[in-house]
Amino acid sequence: MTIREALRSAAERLELHHISNARLTSELLLAQVLLVEREYLYAHDDRILTDDESQALEDHLYDRIGGVPLQYIVGRQEFFGRYFHVNPSVLIPRPETEYIVEAVLDRAKGTRGRPPRPLEILDVGTGSGCIAVTLALELPEAKVFATDISLDALVVAHSNAARLGAMVQFACMDVMDALSGRFDFIASNPPYVRRDEITYLQREVREHEPHVALFSPEDELAIYRRLVLDGEGMLQPGGHLIMEIGLGMEERVLGLFGPAWEKQPTKTDLQGIPRTVVARLTK
Ligand SMILES: C[S@@+](CC[C@H](N)C(=O)[O-])C[C@H]1O[C@@H](n2cnc3c(N)ncnc32)[C@H](O)[C@@H]1O
Repeated sequence: MTIREALRSAAERLELHHISNARLTSELLLAQVLLVEREYLYAHDDRILTDDESQALEDHLYDRIGGVPLQYIVGRQEFFGRYFHVNPSVLIPRPETEYIVEAVLDRAKGTRGRPPRPLEILDVGTGSGCIAVTLALELPEAKVFATDISLDALVVAHSNAARLGAMVQFACMDVMDALSGRFDFIASNPPYVRRDEITYLQREVREHEPHVALFSPEDELAIYRRLVLDGEGMLQPGGHLIMEIGLGMEERVLGLFGPAWEKQPTKTDLQGIPRTVVARLTK
């Protein structure tokens, strides 16, 4: 079978199973099998696939039709213009999480040259490392730290940092319990889905993404409470706490901040959903 025929047949099968972006998905899966970029497929569309290559494509199609997210099959996801390796130990980075990076960068620019020391930034629940690694690369003079409760996630984050050339100090812990020091920014995209909301999640998410990354241990505010409470002791005066929130959570999350905080406007995503809560420690 030629590349052209394989792509046509793969796209037809994906469409039959209601997989979105069937043609693009076929191209990405075959490109992954052949370890080439998508453009190669067009330039060599009459190349005959070997039996092993055809079988590998078949395996990928089987997984995708069975609900495995494309990113776990191809092993990567783009975030802020860079590719991050992902596997089922880590949440697949979402586009809206880029707002956290933007919120830090916007405010970090305002502090350049002041304080007369490198900025210190902490990412709590780093997962693939997408936030911490991106900030370390965008702010090369900053000291970036990242925590996660999952050792498997930290292995992925560490390898992403090494591959992309980012200096990040990773540590395995519950939220930021074992850290001391004062940061200029604490950023976090914590787990915020309630266990009893599991049936509302898309099947792909529910069955394939790590539950420790999705579900809050008690009610959905559990980790936010700790970030606000501990953040008060672990931010520099004037430091910022920047957190991603889920649908309908803005009011309750903003309600966690006491008088020591100045709440800043929440960033809304393209669907108009409030996504990124920012508060500045005033004292
Ligand atoms: C929603 S994911 C976010 C991952 C990544 N920061 C991103 O935005 O794609 C939440 C992350 O928090 C981690 N996590 C869950 N509970 C935690 C806890 N108590 N302390 C530290 N990390 C935790 C999970 O392992 C997961 O990697």
